[in-house]
Amino acid sequence: MSDFQIQTSTQEPPLDAALKVIYQWNYDPEVEELRNLYHKALEAQWIAEREIDWDRPIDMEKFATTPMGTALDIEKCSYWRSLPEETQWELKRRMASFRLSNFLHGEQGALMVAAQLVNAVPHTDAKFYAATQTMDEARHVEVFAKYINKLDEVRPIAPALKIILDSTLATDDWMKKLVGMQIVVEGLALYSFREMRNLTEEPLLKDLLTYVARDESRHHAYGVQYISRCVPCLNDAQRRELEDFALEAARTLIGSRTQQTFFSALLALWSEVGIDPAELLTSVQREREQLLREDIRPGGRLGPVQGFVIPTLRRCGLLSERVAAHFHSFLRENFTSRVVGEDVQEFLRLLPDIPEDTAAWVLGQLQ
Ligand SMILES: [Fe+2]
Ligand SMILES: [Fe+2]
Repeated sequence: MSDFQIQTSTQEPPLDAALKVIYQWNYDPEVEELRNLYHKALEAQWIAEREIDWDRPIDMEKFATTPMGTALDIEKCSYWRSLPEETQWELKRRMASFRLSNFLHGEQGALMVAAQLVNAVPHTDAKFYAATQTMDEARHVEVFAKYINKLDEVRPIAPALKIILDSTLATDDWMKKLVGMQIVVEGLALYSFREMRNLTEEPLLKDLLTYVARDESRHHAYGVQYISRCVPCLNDAQRRELEDFALEAARTLIGSRTQQTFFSALLALWSEVGIDPAELLTSVQREREQLLREDIRPGGRLGPVQGFVIPTLRRCGLLSERVAAHFHSFLRENFTSRVVGEDVQEFLRLLPDIPEDTAAWVLGQLQ
């Protein structure tokens, strides 16, 4: 008797998702840059089982260099440093697995959205490319799950990420799917993968992030190249709708409620290993200034939305002054310690350009 079942306890109830399927009878190359990207993706396919040496145990000592995605580098505070090594490891392993689990669940969302795009985008080149991305995302799910199982256990999805994935899967507008997934979610992911990949010295994690980040830089390029082609064809109302979809997605992903939920999840992890969250927090608060000064993480103080997602929207032609003003006031209210500029003009002036070669940027070859 096999124990195969159609319904398992790990399944979510089905989500009603919409898409309009489009046949395209022109099979000739039409959007040259997307055809090139598709060829690049074919050349860059890799096999996770074969190319990564999974027999290596996780190097606990080197794992300590893995960044946790917290606003302040809490491992530098005196209370953390006073903890026994074993407790530090237990904390680190749980916090990292919490963060990696959200990468993993995001990858599953990306897998399903990419598969939808194969059906929904109207150009053959864009369908071809989305097919390669679907394969890439399957591999990303595979490698993150494998690593997390070595490290700890898969932890549940963050509610804000689930909201974005649901709305990106559910919309019947393929351009919204592209903006929600390729620009907002993948933009944030690319930024975080880059940071983790360049700072961690744990060899297995660094290896898999190198492969994943290389693929992600192509996914981001797909969004940028395709959307930039489409935006000039839209009327004002359609462009506004797309801009608003991106704004809403970014707000949900980094808004104050999300940060609070993220924070409570961290506190729960600290309690799991017997740490009194209050003591750790007091120490972080007391040493706040110094921790900020010592922050050497790439991207500095701008953070992923201001440092990458919004610049990407600008490159795509989706950052009108109207939506920039919304972003500006949202960032001002939520990130008081960041440099967002006095007014929209200054905010726009402070925005960096997205790198010409994101693949090189993501692998740390560019600042
Ligand atoms: Fe991915
Ligand atoms: Fe991706």
